[in-house]
Amino acid sequence: MGCELRGLPRGFALDLPTIQRMLDRRSPVGRRLATRRRERDLLVVDRGLRAGRTTGGTFRAHVRNEDVRRSDYERLKATPRPGHADYPARVRFGPEADLSGGGVFSGRMTVGLVIAGAVCGQLLAPIGVRANAFVKAVGNVEGPERAEATPEELRLLRETNEVGALGAAPGEAMAREIEAARRAGDSVGGLIETRVSGLPVGLGEPFFDSVEAVVAHLAFSVPGVKGVEFGAGFKAARLRGSANNDPFAWEENRVITRTNQAGGILGGLTTGMPVLFRVAMKPTPSIARPQETVDLLTRRAATIRVPGRHDPCIVPRAVVVMESIALFALADLAYAGGWLR
Ligand SMILES: Cc1cc2nc3c(=O)[nH]c(=O)nc-3n(C[C@H](O)[C@H](O)[C@H](O)COP(=O)(O)O)c2cc1C
Repeated sequence: MGCELRGLPRGFALDLPTIQRMLDRRSPVGRRLATRRRERDLLVVDRGLRAGRTTGGTFRAHVRNEDVRRSDYERLKATPRPGHADYPARVRFGPEADLSGGGVFSGRMTVGLVIAGAVCGQLLAPIGVRANAFVKAVGNVEGPERAEATPEELRLLRETNEVGALGAAPGEAMAREIEAARRAGDSVGGLIETRVSGLPVGLGEPFFDSVEAVVAHLAFSVPGVKGVEFGAGFKAARLRGSANNDPFAWEENRVITRTNQAGGILGGLTTGMPVLFRVAMKPTPSIARPQETVDLLTRRAATIRVPGRHDPCIVPRAVVVMESIALFALADLAYAGGWLR
């Protein structure tokens, strides 16, 4: 699994351990609440780097797929898993398509997004851009907001617990929710919030490449993402203009807004306030409980219990994926607008 990036500058010193650390945050290894597949995800750079610096040509990197059990997926060919991509993928690509491990519909696809995001994060760091995501909710367990937290505080709070919530106590409560779902042979979804600070004002390309459009496009590429909202999001529909508008003010010689209902975006352009978005992730489709399906060969009703090793909750592992897609989208827009060269 990997990615290919074109259009990188020449001579940029990339720090590979930083990329590996982001991959480690996505890996299930050492996580109590994740799949027991041993996916170590060690980064290998194939091209585009010489003596630690980008060549300006195509950058390509990958991690090897380890610990694959094809047999886990053989049975799914005739009896599609409810909630997974098996059925439409089989109709579209035919029974011979290799959907072992979920194929192109697997959460493994996000490895490439994380490599790309980690590279883009390094390109954006010199202009002061930082992305931090955290778990806002797991099932019905809601974590704190901490609207005033600095990027560093967000990171420290997130690292107090395995789930990636803002604090040890909410993290524990969410972990119990995940554990309860797993014990019931079930799964659970949740919300991830991402905040990107240090952005220049005016980033974004009218009309089609608004910041929302570019970020949402990438967010919806991530398997399991079913909703994206920016700032106040869907709640804005219930507010009056006077409550939803963010008042402007001067602070240390720059314009800020007193609130950030807009999620740092007006007219598809950044306002200089943190870009803030939330994604809703659905519960993992592959569950141990019996579910109704059909047998595509016999045309009969069937029952399926999904064998194999699956995440009872995708949300904790997708936190770094959300940071990555944000950095990827914003770096692209920073090049388009001339902030990066
Ligand atoms: C990091 C990550 C890990 C995932 N792990 C699993 C898994 O173990 N089992 C599973 O059924 N789905 C898993 N998924 C979700 C499926 O890939 C996804 O639900 C499926 O492709 C259907 O697509 P949709 O949910 O976007 O409609 C994972 C997703 C991500 C982002």
